[in-house]
Amino acid sequence: MRLRDCHNFHDFRRMAQHRLPGPIFNYIDGAAEDEVTYRRNTASFEQCDLVPNVLRGVENVDLSVTVMGQKLALPVYCSPTALQRLFHHQGERAVATATGRYGTMFGVSSLGTVSLEEARQLSGGAPACYQFYFHKDRGLNRAMLDRAKAAGIEVMMLTVDSITGGNRERDKRTGFSIPFKLTLGGMLQFALKPAWGINYVTHERFKLPQLDEHVDMGGGAMSISKYFTDLLDPTMNWDDVAQMASEWGGQFCLKGIMSVADAKRAADIGCTGIVLSNHGGRQLDGSRTAFDQLAEIVDAVGDRLDVMIDGGVQRGTHVLKALSLGAKAVGLGRYYLFPLAAAGQAGVERALELMRIELERDMKLMGCTSIAQLSRANLRFRPA
Ligand code: LAC
Repeated sequence: MRLRDCHNFHDFRRMAQHRLPGPIFNYIDGAAEDEVTYRRNTASFEQCDLVPNVLRGVENVDLSVTVMGQKLALPVYCSPTALQRLFHHQGERAVATATGRYGTMFGVSSLGTVSLEEARQLSGGAPACYQFYFHKDRGLNRAMLDRAKAAGIEVMMLTVDSITGGNRERDKRTGFSIPFKLTLGGMLQFALKPAWGINYVTHERFKLPQLDEHVDMGGGAMSISKYFTDLLDPTMNWDDVAQMASEWGGQFCLKGIMSVADAKRAADIGCTGIVLSNHGGRQLDGSRTAFDQLAEIVDAVGDRLDVMIDGGVQRGTHVLKALSLGAKAVGLGRYYLFPLAAAGQAGVERALELMRIELERDMKLMGCTSIAQLSRANLRFRPA
């Protein structure tokens, strides 16, 4: 399969599956428990129909949005995700460069495999957000905040839905851990993909530059679930986050908010944004989808902070539906990770290009020339 044969999410996913060792593919593709939330994330967009208008003169379409004080050329951004150099040796370098070229925002993760300074620099003039995990070690938290500030990060994004590890049974079966401690079956699957293995060992050693100086990963291997459970601070509460937001002093958002009560509290403590998210279905299975929660959250706090969503977005029309309901921008996760795994920077650029083309076409078919023209009048929901 070649990159030019990839026309949508499913094509990239297949190409990634072909290239990646099973344990790594399943780490990206998998979710928690029965993966019900993961499946619903995409399905929820299908419960909502678009109602287009015609004959409005749609020659030039402006896809730009302003969110959390940042002007983005596209209403989508690449959400922060962990461990990208495991998926392709270019890792975060590919994603930061590609998002910069498309003028949108790149999220660098605490569990990133390239330093946030380098990622920030590669994204050029485009804004960067830093995804933060709140560790038990308060000194580490302080050092990470200071470092992000010094690097010129525009948006601080604190993940709040991962206070303990999600029950990801695919990872348990393969023994997926960081870097690796595989079960015998998992090892066999690596042996089946020698090209990936050669690439991996011939490029720079696996590192977690945001954490390496501070965190002992238990002699080199730790599951993601164990990292969340052992190193993150389960006592984290609203007072801690209020203090962190005020120490940061700039654009500050919480990723993983789902309830109206929490959205209001986020506004009360001075957050400038929230991301409705169930972490790609990877944490609490059975959790509602961000898209299904969006309207009530926008109604409750949309005038006080910027509401974003992520989860299950595979198409331009999914993005337009979320924007019509009042989201200010939409995060992509697996949408760019499979292309990264399939073909590195060229893959991410192709995925973003396909998204840009779909968005432009869909806007024209909706009779809209700017994102602000989208509204709930364009939507109808199907009975469940
Ligand atoms: C995950 C974390 C690392 O979902 O965000 O695997």
